[in-house]
Amino acid sequence: MKPEANFVAGVGNIAFRRLVSLAIFLALIVIGLGAYTRLTDAGLGCPDWPGCYGKLTAPLHDGHIAEIQQQFPHAFIEPHKAHNEMLHRYVAGLLGLVVLTIFISSLLIKRWRVHCSLIAVLVVLQALLGMWTVTMNLIPLVVMAHLLGGFLLLSLLVLLRVKIYCRHNAVIPESKLRAFLPFAYIAGLIVLAQIALGGWTSANYAALTCTQFPVCEPGWQTRFSLESIFHLPLGHDTYEYGVLPYEARMSIHIAHRVGAAITFFSVSALLLCCWHAARSSGLRRLILTVGAVLVLQAILGILNVYLHLPLFTAVAHNLVAANLLMLIVVLIQQLHWRTRSSVATLQKNIIEKNIPVVAVNINRNIHQ
Ligand code: HEM
Repeated sequence: MKPEANFVAGVGNIAFRRLVSLAIFLALIVIGLGAYTRLTDAGLGCPDWPGCYGKLTAPLHDGHIAEIQQQFPHAFIEPHKAHNEMLHRYVAGLLGLVVLTIFISSLLIKRWRVHCSLIAVLVVLQALLGMWTVTMNLIPLVVMAHLLGGFLLLSLLVLLRVKIYCRHNAVIPESKLRAFLPFAYIAGLIVLAQIALGGWTSANYAALTCTQFPVCEPGWQTRFSLESIFHLPLGHDTYEYGVLPYEARMSIHIAHRVGAAITFFSVSALLLCCWHAARSSGLRRLILTVGAVLVLQAILGILNVYLHLPLFTAVAHNLVAANLLMLIVVLIQQLHWRTRSSVATLQKNIIEKNIPVVAVNINRNIHQ
């Protein structure tokens, strides 16, 4: 490649990398704002979509509110809820634009096209789910799917960022870790299922049906019903504040607690195995971070129960769950990357492409 072309490609790569980092930052804010909107009961703050009472902004002043009230005589307008909802939509819109730019850039630089297309499709799906959340009056299945979509979007963006990083760095091979890959996938699926159960708990307003810890109020055994956990509430005018009977909500809550225990033990076991086999400090740091985030998530969940769901811990429980999934995805990617690279590729990259090595003890590892 000519030096000018090299320079243009280099600038393009840096801009692309920065765009992906910006998208990750925005995705985290959108997830946090989504949880805040739901927890302040502002999901229906604007009953239409994409505008708010037919306007581009939430009602800002008394004149504006009076005008809307005339147009929608039966509406109970709550400006603070409309503001929360519109803020979430604006930042989500901005994220959509950044993702569109990432998608177009990937076509131009001819790299990561499949990955970026997936991200773009997911953003469109998220916009649809956001619309259905409002137009279907918070139907739990859509609310849960919207939450999962947001978490997956964040994970895919972070995965893209890590792939970009890996392209410019070589890594010490860690073939011993290969044995843990299937286990890592299972742990990832368990975390995903636990997040779905958490979304189901909150979408059905089941957080406060069990206020004792570690077990529910006395008599829960007689009211627990496994079947009711999977019962889809349908056919209601609105799902705000939940429509399921107490027994079903309590059962969902208990399922989330049992899921938490399974998640905790399976992810901890995976981390312990990887810790013993890992040699590079980078991977060990990642394992420690996943462990710390897992513990934090469990503490926040327990605080939600003890303190009766204060806004701060409830939003934090949501955000930390998103980070947990994202980190597990990165861990799986790292296990792939580190077990796929061979000593021969490492040496070739160092010599031919002058790619830096991301690890310590290179000589010891190469000759082992
Ligand atoms: C360890 C793994 C855990 C994960 C991955 C997880 C994940 C989640 C997620 C994603 C939500 C939905 C949040 C939202 O919609 O804003 C949620 C809700 C909830 N979680 Fe967990 N959770 C875990 C552990 C726990 C534990 C140990 C408890 C308590 C014993 C707990 C109690 C709750 C409660 C009460 C809610 C409902 C909150 C609401 O209505 O907003 N969680 N969880």
